[in-house]
Amino acid sequence: VCLVLDYGSQYTQLIARRIRDAGVLSVLLPGDASMDAIKEVNPRMIILSGGPNSVHAEGAPLLPPEFYTYCQSSGIPLLGICYGMQLLVHQLGGVVQTVMDSGEYGRMPINVERDSVLYAGEEADRQLVWMSHGDSATALPEGFRAVAKSEQGACVAIEDPSRKFFGLQYHPEVVHSERGSAMIKHLLFEVAGLEGDWNMADVLQEEMTKVTAAVGPTDHVICALSGGVDSTVAATLVHRVLGDRLHCVFVDNGLLRYAEAERVMDTFREHLHLPVTKIDVSERMLARLAGVTDPEAKRKAIGKEFIDTFQEYATGLEASLGHAPRFLVQGTLYPDVIESCPPPGSGQKHSHTIKSHHNVGGLPEDLRFTLIEPLRELFKDEVRALGRLLEVPERFIARHPFPGPGLAVRVLGDVTAGDALATLREVDEVYVNAIREWGLYDDIWQAFAVFLPIRSVGVQGDQRTHSHVVALRAVTSSDGMTADWFPFQPDFLRYVSTKICNSVRGVNRVVYDVTSKPPSTIEWE
Ligand code: XMP
Repeated sequence: VCLVLDYGSQYTQLIARRIRDAGVLSVLLPGDASMDAIKEVNPRMIILSGGPNSVHAEGAPLLPPEFYTYCQSSGIPLLGICYGMQLLVHQLGGVVQTVMDSGEYGRMPINVERDSVLYAGEEADRQLVWMSHGDSATALPEGFRAVAKSEQGACVAIEDPSRKFFGLQYHPEVVHSERGSAMIKHLLFEVAGLEGDWNMADVLQEEMTKVTAAVGPTDHVICALSGGVDSTVAATLVHRVLGDRLHCVFVDNGLLRYAEAERVMDTFREHLHLPVTKIDVSERMLARLAGVTDPEAKRKAIGKEFIDTFQEYATGLEASLGHAPRFLVQGTLYPDVIESCPPPGSGQKHSHTIKSHHNVGGLPEDLRFTLIEPLRELFKDEVRALGRLLEVPERFIARHPFPGPGLAVRVLGDVTAGDALATLREVDEVYVNAIREWGLYDDIWQAFAVFLPIRSVGVQGDQRTHSHVVALRAVTSSDGMTADWFPFQPDFLRYVSTKICNSVRGVNRVVYDVTSKPPSTIEWE
């Protein structure tokens, strides 16, 4: 295992990804993790990430002195990146200074010393790296020497081979650092002696073993399938182990896309052979939502209905089995786990509630299930790889994310007003099919239509119309936290807008959303 201590850099997850790409399991902990938590990971190498702080800032996150003696005495190689390097220098007796005018940002060449441990085996003295720093190390701690310099003469890589402590002022984890991945592999394999044998087939085996160990031979397990990749892959994995002792429920909340309930049920049953019960609560849900226009109130109402339905299902199952299922499968991913810890030194304790995502599909604690979370250590694309191993159909694996509250957050205002939902379903189907036809689906993180509660004037077949306006949205993103609008060619937009107005009754205007996140969010509500 390679441990990454997170000081809040936007690139921390990327460091963890690079290590996994090299076939080594990476684990992330907040930069102020306790020594006990660090030792429990039993790391073979530790990386300190970058971060927004200066080591001189008040409250800047530091490591306990014991940390360095632990690494040294256990022979654990330590690499500090950017803030991580400054932390090493500052805490081990060197000097870090903020030189106001000489910050270095962006892609730039550095000169490296090839007789060093860090650059052993490199073929050139110069390489391009991605730099982003304001502070510099101006005096090194005892035992360290500079092994790379920037054009301006700043010391950008340091090492103390006897302690196996290293520091890089630049970011080897980003693709703009041309030898960055090679450097990470060199440290993992040659310096730390790791093997690079972590792969998805082993993960699958390990997670199946964990399920076998956790669940007794007569225990039953339940799972709420959303129709998304995560819950489907998690359920499929658990089903491999437990067969029909797994009980899945799929709730049709009346807010699904065109033909979605039939399509996903078909995949669950025909392709994955999952034991799944569909519960249709559309009527109850729409009754609950009638007249509700506030986005948060909608989300809360939907979440409440979901919880009530799930509870009824669990109670019914208990009655038919003669005892209560004790376990619940959830498709929690690694980013969900680590996102809940804010960067140390940020002063941020809890992030703001922009939208109450976790109220939807999140089950109340008093249900008292033991959770089975086989994807807890994986990133999204790793879940997709695992899904492929489990033979989940490709079309399903590559699906765009779809929010728990479904179309309710895409019909602005009252979801139950007129034929809003039906119209939106048709528009969305035409739009997404067009995206598939034009071969653009996999280039886009998420694409969908939004129903606006307004009418505009138009002219169709010599007739004046006063009909609905729909908005189309498509964004690129890597994690949904930030996003940019997708630059469709005008030809595509022309094609899709014509097709929508011609084939969907009651729509006479189509607009395209050209806002990034921030300042907007991906969904409109
Ligand atoms: P926003 O709109 O906050 O969305 O920029 C970011 C990502 O999260 C999805 N999303 C949700 N997913 N329950 C979910 O499971 C929700 O309540 C929810 N709201 C938004 C959204 O589709 C996008 O992928």
